[in-house]
Amino acid sequence: MKKPILVVGNWKMHLNTQEASTLVHRLSQSIKVHRSVEVVIAPSLLSLQPLSLEIDRRKFRLAAQDAYFKDEGAFTGEVSFTMLRDLVHYSIVGHSSRRISFNETLEVVREKVNAAVRNGIVPILCVGETKEEHDAGETKQVLHDQVTSAISGLTSEDIRDVVVAYEPVWAIGTGDPEKPESIKRNIDYIRMQVRELYGETAASEVRLLYGASVEPDFVHGILSIEGVDGLLVGGASLNHKQFAAIIDGAYQIAITRS
Ligand code: PGA
Repeated sequence: MKKPILVVGNWKMHLNTQEASTLVHRLSQSIKVHRSVEVVIAPSLLSLQPLSLEIDRRKFRLAAQDAYFKDEGAFTGEVSFTMLRDLVHYSIVGHSSRRISFNETLEVVREKVNAAVRNGIVPILCVGETKEEHDAGETKQVLHDQVTSAISGLTSEDIRDVVVAYEPVWAIGTGDPEKPESIKRNIDYIRMQVRELYGETAASEVRLLYGASVEPDFVHGILSIEGVDGLLVGGASLNHKQFAAIIDGAYQIAITRS
């Protein structure tokens, strides 16, 4: 059976609980139940609990944007994957905001991937090169290091559920996504890393997303690239009309794929 196209909305540090609830309500009115498209929203941690009670589960699944890798203990200010396990299906791990603004190292990202999997939460591992790395021609090296180190603690069974989002950091929030040829090259390269570590079955089952400046007009072009299994959407997921248009675009592609 074909995998549904995965569309994830990362709301980052936007919207209070009331605003989050209003946005979900509007989105719910604008989208249909599509079995061929899986829609995931990642609101702030504070909104996860109320939204888990409000959402139509046929339309949405929830993701955390981050969590701490220890399951429990004296870690003031942190929330663990263990605490989130009944609330979310997915968690974003290693988003460039975390790597850059919060100095998350390759080791921390690996610990978080392991903790998510240990707690039955599917990690959406974000990888991608910065502008400096891009300009210096280091993209492959960066993707190799970020992917292989993050998944090296998993088994070949675990890896099949993992989602990897390729997000060129220099294209995030610019309104200008990466060119299709480069997306294809980098997505193929990420899948090759998985194949080399875990074999062909794992490589064909792992879901790979593209993220960075995904807007409705670009959906058809990006999802037509072979090997792209979905989208990670930032800014456009905060607007119900735009996010619904992205989901609809994904649905149109899903119809042509089936
Ligand atoms: P953007 O963000 O869609 O606003 O570029 C993507 C992301 O950071 O995940």
